[in-house]
Amino acid sequence: MLADRLKTLAPSSTLAVQAKARELRRRGIDVISFGAGEPDFDTPERIKNAAIQAMRRGHTKYTEVGGVPELRAAVCAKLKRDNGLTYEPAEVLVSCGAKHTLFNMAVALLDPGDEVLVPSPYWVSYPEQARLVGAVPVPVPTSEATGFDLDPARLRAAVTPRTKVIILNSPNNPTGAVFSPASLAAVAELALERDLFVVSDECYESLTFDGRHASIAALGPEIKARTLVVNTCSKSYAMTGWRIGFAAGPRELIAAMTDVQSQVTSNPSSVAQWAAVEALGGPQDEVARMAAEFDRRRRLIVQGLTALPGVSCVTPKGAFYVFPNVSRLFGRTWPAAGGPATLKSSLDVTAFFLEEARVAVVPGLDFGSDDHVRLSYATSDALITEGLARMAAALERLA
Ligand SMILES: Cc1ncc(COP(=O)(O)O)c(C=O)c1O
Repeated sequence: MLADRLKTLAPSSTLAVQAKARELRRRGIDVISFGAGEPDFDTPERIKNAAIQAMRRGHTKYTEVGGVPELRAAVCAKLKRDNGLTYEPAEVLVSCGAKHTLFNMAVALLDPGDEVLVPSPYWVSYPEQARLVGAVPVPVPTSEATGFDLDPARLRAAVTPRTKVIILNSPNNPTGAVFSPASLAAVAELALERDLFVVSDECYESLTFDGRHASIAALGPEIKARTLVVNTCSKSYAMTGWRIGFAAGPRELIAAMTDVQSQVTSNPSSVAQWAAVEALGGPQDEVARMAAEFDRRRRLIVQGLTALPGVSCVTPKGAFYVFPNVSRLFGRTWPAAGGPATLKSSLDVTAFFLEEARVAVVPGLDFGSDDHVRLSYATSDALITEGLARMAAALERLA
């Protein structure tokens, strides 16, 4: 019954882990989840008030497909203020979250058979979205030894006549890498030389703890002309449920993406758009406050993880994830429900922690590395401490 393209579609493993943890909790089992892909803070009050005002003022109807002019102007002002990038409102599109922005890009830019270079480990949706439109995702490994920085030489070696797009994500989900200025410059050079288009997913920009966030589009007018900058209100303003993401790039591409969106969802929620005008344009103090809190938790969780036997961990420079290497646990056995089981993969380690420690983590396999698991530290100090203690106790029981 279903279309062929569904044969390869993998459902989101992050959401699957959360569902499994929720199910255990419903059965009365106390599970600590490190699966969340969203801030645990509430949306700031000034932003909620802007939404209430918008409803009262009657902003409850369809809007321009690509976002109300006030929001596109606020996006331009944000990109100027934070990234030194100059765009006009006609070069901006607002969508129902950055995930939707990226899918509009895939539909507007990729033909069947086009290759998309995806530095690996990667956020799970890049390859899935490429495959949904018949394009071919090509994972290009980064190395743990460089803190998962981009590897321009490997990217260069992966380019073929079918390569059309490189997707960059810094700060990175799942590794927490913040790509170095030198590697970004080398990738910009490669894109110009080989006529490639760059998609720069900067959704975790405000959560850059070590180093400074830099957009590849800011490296010069030539690379800006072939880059789509993608960002969202979800992470910086704790607005995951409001579904407002945005993109800025060449006018022709933005127009095409807007046409795609016009046939699929029309505008994002009018009320959420007005909340986003306030988020982007209002006082930014709470962004730094939330980032400082994440930074503190980052230190706490890295310290705890590195103390676990058989686990090693690169200190992430940004976002709210850690991506510890668990491959030294492979070969160890534990008394699983169905009989003794040997740890052989990130899925096994995930099952082990869930059953033996009542701790939910996400397998690295879906992010392109079976040697790792991903933990989100968008949760309280108390739960981080308790979760790590449970993991340590479970590891003690490994044979
Ligand atoms: C790397 C990355 N890009 C984009 C998104 C999408 O965010 P949203 O659709 O909420 O704007 C996420 C969310 O987890 C992400 O991790």
